[in-house]
Amino acid sequence: MEAVNQPEYSTLAEIYDHIMQNVDYDVWADFIDEIIQVHHPDPQSILELACGTGSLSLSLEELMCYEIVGTDKSPAMISKARNKNQKQASSVRFLEMDFLDISLDRKFDAVVSIFDSINYLHKSRSIKKLLNEVKKVIDRNSLFIFDFTTPGNSIQAIEYLDNEEGTTENNYHFFRKSRYDEELQIHYNDFKIEKLADDNETVTERHFEQHKQRIYTLQQMLDIIEATDFEIVAKYDAFDLIEADDDSLRITMVLRCPTIQ
Ligand SMILES: C[S@@+](CC[C@H](N)C(=O)[O-])C[C@H]1O[C@@H](n2cnc3c(N)ncnc32)[C@H](O)[C@@H]1O
Repeated sequence: MEAVNQPEYSTLAEIYDHIMQNVDYDVWADFIDEIIQVHHPDPQSILELACGTGSLSLSLEELMCYEIVGTDKSPAMISKARNKNQKQASSVRFLEMDFLDISLDRKFDAVVSIFDSINYLHKSRSIKKLLNEVKKVIDRNSLFIFDFTTPGNSIQAIEYLDNEEGTTENNYHFFRKSRYDEELQIHYNDFKIEKLADDNETVTERHFEQHKQRIYTLQQMLDIIEATDFEIVAKYDAFDLIEADDDSLRITMVLRCPTIQ
């Protein structure tokens, strides 16, 4: 049986929460909340971009009681998020939306995007486009908080991502190849995903998804942002309120746009 090529985050939605099972989204929500409280006390509303299966939005709603809208381009990821929302009796609104085409007729106190979703943007002009889109849904005091990963992270991550394999509770078997092209600064994650029959052995479907992320140095990201009318409020290393530097592996940027009327 030939593997069928799939768009990013279509079949992967079936195994996403399994491969992220060791990620503590409550801790991540605490960190995002800490950033918001430092730079925008008394926030009410949050828009999450590229929310995936909704784990951060659901944690933020449960722990901090914010009013949250979670959005993602992938219909399969949003469908998983809605299922979790219903199961947890949460009231996050989950919507399908490309963050390069934001269409919401309201403003939020904070717009958030985590877990290197921005690394899916391969060109500086796409990041500038994203920043322009975000301007539609913020006011001059709102924050745009997003993280990205750096070359050092990709070099280290290959060790634990490459050849990762497993079987999920919903009968999917997956195998991941992960490699980093240092010259192009592109990180590839290739997933072979097989749907298994109830005997847990017979393969009924074979899927293939290639994920390509552009990896940015801190300086490259600063150069992109500095060419826009966003101001850099802070840049944090990993999950602490400590200033990021050239050695940081994951950097969380906090931006504001003072030119908005
Ligand atoms: C690594 S996952 C992170 C998901 C989620 N933020 C989390 O923490 O689990 C990247 C997500 O970015 C989404 N994504 C990629 N490009 C996007 C775009 N142009 N607009 C909206 N979502 C996008 C994917 O569909 C995927 O759900």
